[in-house]
Amino acid sequence: MVKEYIAQHQERFLQELFDLLRIPSVSADSKFKTDVRKAAEYVKVKLLEAGATKVELVETKGHPIVFGEKIIDPALPTVLVYGHYDVQPADPLHLWISPAFEPVVKDGKIYARGACDDKGQFYMHIKAFEIMNKQNTLPCNVKFMIEGEEEVGSDNLPIFVKEYKEKLKADIILISDTSLISLEHPSITVGLRGLSYLEVEVTGPNRDLHSGVYGGAVANPINVLAQLIASLHDENGKVNIPGFYDAVVNPTEEEREALNKAPFNLEHYKKDLDIADVKGEKGYTTIERTGIRPTLDVNGIWGGYTGEGAKTVLPSKASAKISMRLVPNQDSATITELFTKHFQAIAPSSVKVKVTPHHGGQPAVTSTTSKAYLAAEKAFEEVWGKKPIPTRDGGSIPIVSLFKKELGLETVLMGFGLDSDAIHSPNEHYGIKNFTIGIETIVAFYKHFAK
Ligand code: BES
Ligand code: MN
Ligand code: MN
Repeated sequence: MVKEYIAQHQERFLQELFDLLRIPSVSADSKFKTDVRKAAEYVKVKLLEAGATKVELVETKGHPIVFGEKIIDPALPTVLVYGHYDVQPADPLHLWISPAFEPVVKDGKIYARGACDDKGQFYMHIKAFEIMNKQNTLPCNVKFMIEGEEEVGSDNLPIFVKEYKEKLKADIILISDTSLISLEHPSITVGLRGLSYLEVEVTGPNRDLHSGVYGGAVANPINVLAQLIASLHDENGKVNIPGFYDAVVNPTEEEREALNKAPFNLEHYKKDLDIADVKGEKGYTTIERTGIRPTLDVNGIWGGYTGEGAKTVLPSKASAKISMRLVPNQDSATITELFTKHFQAIAPSSVKVKVTPHHGGQPAVTSTTSKAYLAAEKAFEEVWGKKPIPTRDGGSIPIVSLFKKELGLETVLMGFGLDSDAIHSPNEHYGIKNFTIGIETIVAFYKHFAK
C-alpha cells in the first residue's frame, strides 16, 4: 500500500522537492536572506498540504524555524522530526556539471545543492506524513521542527529549545541528516562527532613589504603560519595540543571490533577519491579515524598575492580556518580554549597571533536499546529485508546533544544519504531510490514505534 502510493505519486513528490531545491537558501550568505525565508514559507505550505493542523514560522535573530504539528491524541506518543532547510554555499560554481539550484536527474540521482543535505532528506518525512494522513494510518502525534541555520552552527536554536520546552514535548527525536553504509548495507547512525571551529590570524610587519628588500630579515606570516599548522600534528598523526585527548573515552576492544566489522572496502574508498593512500592517526582503521577519533583540519588558508602572474611581496597577514572534530567526552568550549592557549604559546615573538572562535557543538552517542531504535531496526528489517548496522558518523549535528540535555530526549538518526553524495561539495546529489525507500522506511518506523 505504501509502496504503491509512493510509486503512484513519485513524479509529484519529486517535482515538489525540485521546487524546494530551486530556492537558494544559503544561510551563510546574507545575499540569500530572502531566499532562506522563501524556503521556510515553502516548507510551511507543504506541511499544511500534507496534513499538519498548525504550522508557524518562529522568528529568531537569524533565519526562521518552521514548527508544525498534528496532535491526534495527547495520550499517544509524539515523534519530533528535526531537519534543516538551509544549505551550504554552492561555491565553487564552475565545478558544477549543472547549475546548483536547477535540479536535474542523471543516472537515477537528483543533482542540486541540498539534494541530500538536508532538503531531500527532511522532505521524505513530509511525504511519509502525507501518506499516513491520506491512508489513515498515522499512529501517533507528530511535530516538525525544520530550522534554517544548521549549516552556520544553529546559533539561535538553543534559545528556541529552552524557551519552548512545552511546545517541543515529545517522546523521541527523529532525524534524517546522516548517511547509510550503502543501499546493500543499511545502517543507523548511533554516534556523531562534535566540532570546534575557529579562525587564526598571523600578523607580521605593519604593511606588505617588498620580498627582496625585506625578505630574510622579517618574519613572513605565511611561512610562520605554515610552520605553526604543521606542528599541530606529530609524526603519528596525533593532534599535538596539550590536553587534547584528556577527556576522550576510549572505546573497548569489543566496541572497536564491532565497529570494524561493518562492510568497508579500502580499495573502493581510495579509488572513489583518486588517492594512492589514506592518511591518519597511527594504530586506527579508516572507520575508526572518522568515527571514534578526534581530528584537526585546516579548512581554508589565505594571505599574500594569489592573483594572476607573480607579485614579489612579503605579506603583512596570513589566516586560516581550522576545525577540530570531537568525540565523547570532549567538550567543544574546552577544546577551543586549549587550542587558543597552545597556538598563542607556540607563536614566535616575530609575529602576533589572534584566534577567533566560530561555532561548535558537542559529540553525541545515541541509544541502541531504546524503543525508538528498536522500531527503526524493525522498519529496516521490514523494508530492506536486512538488519541495519549501527555506525558512527564523522560529521556533526550539534542539536542532538542539545536535545538530550534540554529536553531529555533520545534521537534516532535514520539517514538515507551516502558518503559519496558529495554533500558540501560541487555536484551534490541524492538517489531517487534513497528518497523513495527512505519514505517507505519512515512510514514503517511510525508503525513499529506506536505499537
Ligand atoms: N548533515 C550534516 C552532518 C552529517 C553529514 C552527519 C554526514 C553525518 C554524516 C550537517 O548538515 C553538517 O554539515 N554539519 C556540520 C556542522 C555544523 C555545526 C556546521 C558539519 O558536520 O560540518
Ligand atoms: Mn545536514
Ligand atoms: Mn551540512
